[in-house]
Amino acid sequence: MTKTITVLPGDGIGPEVTESAVRVLRSVLEKSRIDVRFVEKKIGGAAIDAYGTPLPQETIDQCKNSDALLLGAVGGPKWNEKSMKRRPEQGLLGIRKAMGLFANLRPVETFQALVDASPIKRSFVENVDFVIVRELTGGLYFGRPSERRGPNQEQVVDTLAYSRQEIQRVVEKAFRLAMKRRKKVTSIDKANVLESSRMWREIVDLTAERYPEIAVNHQLVDSAAMQLITNPSQFDVLVTENMFGDILSDEASVITGSLGMMPSASLNADKVGLYEPAHGSAPDIAGQGKANPLATILSAALLLRYSLEMECEASQIERAVHDVLDHGYRTYDLQTAQQNEKTVKTEEMTDRVIDAIDRRAV
Ligand code: NAD
Ligand code: IPM
Ligand code: MN
Repeated sequence: MTKTITVLPGDGIGPEVTESAVRVLRSVLEKSRIDVRFVEKKIGGAAIDAYGTPLPQETIDQCKNSDALLLGAVGGPKWNEKSMKRRPEQGLLGIRKAMGLFANLRPVETFQALVDASPIKRSFVENVDFVIVRELTGGLYFGRPSERRGPNQEQVVDTLAYSRQEIQRVVEKAFRLAMKRRKKVTSIDKANVLESSRMWREIVDLTAERYPEIAVNHQLVDSAAMQLITNPSQFDVLVTENMFGDILSDEASVITGSLGMMPSASLNADKVGLYEPAHGSAPDIAGQGKANPLATILSAALLLRYSLEMECEASQIERAVHDVLDHGYRTYDLQTAQQNEKTVKTEEMTDRVIDAIDRRAV
């Protein structure tokens, strides 16, 4: 059986971290019965440079003919000028929309070896294990109109729009996920101000009636932002709209020690998902071998779990990541000043993960 994984390296550290994840995938897959073909396509700034558009039709067509997608990151100062009508980020939003990837899962778990890499006190970050379910194809990111107005363009409009069905399907995803976990859903909104949040709350309550075993609570986003730091272990599954989920997930990554540790899975109603680190293209460290590849490697594990149904191989990768951290290997973003620490570059961290997989396999 041959499966196709399309790799979209993108910009900045994107090519460095996807190369790492592909090496790890190849190493677990060569021992399996499944034959996987990797096809690389351009997206973001790299696609603007090559084709004049951040999401060429060729890339969309290839993604639609794949079993799973692995993405690095898009964007960078090169494509930031105001005159740029086409931005790399449009490529990412476009592929999410084209593939119908409405649910973005961002797991946040404590890595025991990294509790001191977080600026938050040890007692707060120990035993944290939750997943943010972020709505990904609606809300402010896709609302129309989104434009400048007035004779001198002195007004701007961005629209936060959701249909009932768009909210329902992502909330349902969160409840199903909670059933496989600790059966707790925290829905995050701004229902004291936004009409969209009031509909969101109504749908969460209706869904909750069908899941009597699940404990449900609502939190306002401002207070939730505070509680993510002061009491993160209370959470199991968080579900929230697109923009809130974007902001809260970067905040939550601080618990794990670095944004470079947070993977993500963007899912639709089928099996074809897009897997990418939650971080961006990190232009400040691109090309220096300083990128932490673990978020992308952990995203590759999610790819095996959700799109290829290879739970065993997915856990192998996750255990290997824990192993290398336990052995003291750290990229530059993860310094904790512990005695056994060894600072390594992107490539060596990847080698260590592959070694750890091989050691466990024998
Ligand atoms: P960023 O996530 O790229 O970087 C924020 C900080 O975290 C930087 O200091 C960076 O060096 C560090 N960092 C991020 N990932 C790291 C890793 N794997 N290892 C070590 N350090 C890491 O956010 P930004 O600087 O605000 O944005 C840069 C560009 O990336 C922008 O163009 C933005 O639009 C884009 N972006 C893309 C994605 C994506 O493609 N999914 C996500 C976020 C931002
Ligand atoms: C993310 C990123 C993207 C988002 C940007 C680059 C469009 O920040 O994946 O979190 O806001 O969704
Ligand atoms: Mn983001």
